Amino acid sequence: MKAAYLKSYGRKDSMQYGELPEPLVKPGTLLVKIKAVSVNPVDWKIKKGLLKIIKGSRFPMVIGSDFAGIVEDVGPGVEGFKKGSNVYGAISAFSKKQGALSEFALVDLKYVRKMPGFLSFTQAASLPVAALTALNGLRRTHVTKGTRVLINGATGGVGHFGVQMAKAKGAHVTATCSSANFALAKDLGADEVYSYKGDKLIPEGTQFDAILDAWGMMAYKEIYRLLKKKGIYASPLYMPWTVFAAIYVRLRYGRKMTSSNMRARPEDYKELESLIESGKLSPLIESTFPLEQAAEAFDKAQYGHPKGKVVIEV
Ligand SMILES: NC(=O)c1ccc[n+]([C@@H]2O[C@H](COP(=O)([O-])OP(=O)(O)OC[C@H]3O[C@@H](n4cnc5c(N)ncnc54)[C@H](OP(=O)(O)O)[C@@H]3O)[C@@H](O)[C@H]2O)c1
Repeated sequence: MKAAYLKSYGRKDSMQYGELPEPLVKPGTLLVKIKAVSVNPVDWKIKKGLLKIIKGSRFPMVIGSDFAGIVEDVGPGVEGFKKGSNVYGAISAFSKKQGALSEFALVDLKYVRKMPGFLSFTQAASLPVAALTALNGLRRTHVTKGTRVLINGATGGVGHFGVQMAKAKGAHVTATCSSANFALAKDLGADEVYSYKGDKLIPEGTQFDAILDAWGMMAYKEIYRLLKKKGIYASPLYMPWTVFAAIYVRLRYGRKMTSSNMRARPEDYKELESLIESGKLSPLIESTFPLEQAAEAFDKAQYGHPKGKVVIEV
């Protein structure tokens, strides 16, 4: 089968396109004919070698989490799926199993969901990691009707979902992004838009009940400046050691810091799908690339300041 795979970490030409053996279905898995894969920062971080300690160094390595495709074969013991069903999901980027950037991928049942008919393969592949992270972040920050929420990094993968979801919950949404994306942030539903650097910063004295930091690396002094006392801040880059900072920030400043890491329970997918079906949420696909140009898609996602998501079509 054709695949885009890493032959090493880090180097400019580390991602190659070529032939690899097709995986064979195993108990508890589905063999999926892949139709689309979206690129998340975790994918280009793996390509750079930043997760080497978890992923190891066995090459060729097929990476790629978010996928959509068609069931080609069903492993022994699997119920509820049949050949020909459309499915989507996210293969854990933190496992050593083969990822999705290939014509066929072996996917554990726990990572697969039936794909609703109102989604295209490209749309479905754009969703899991970024949209479920935004959903969890808004849940963890208790965003609801009337909450004044700041979405930092509002037009990227996580952020563009976050703005739309917060709006759908009835929150008052302030967005930060680069000035080139002000109009887009407004189109996504933001009530107010500011830059994250340069001109038009959030005015002094403005404070929020909740911050979903989709970019993930807001400085502690900014969190303190922008978050109301008893407010909650969530980041998708919350590391185990951040817990010590969180305890300090809570005791010293009365602000809560938490994680918005992706949560992918069936009820999370259900909530996501119903937002899309009702027209309140729509994935923004910045660009699509064919599998043979996966390396270009990765460059676009890493360096191209994408609006929404970059998707590779197979
Ligand atoms: N833990 C998890 O489960 C999880 C899941 C998903 C994502 N993540 C992490 O979350 C982060 C964001 O993911 P993503 O998919 O949204 O990435 P992305 O699509 O690359 O978007 C990043 C966004 O951050 C903005 N940005 C850049 N510099 C900024 C700054 N100094 N201040 C504020 N915003 C800034 C960018 O705006 P411009 O393009 O306009 O510069 C862009 O909108 C990544 O680090 C990713 O690894 C973690």
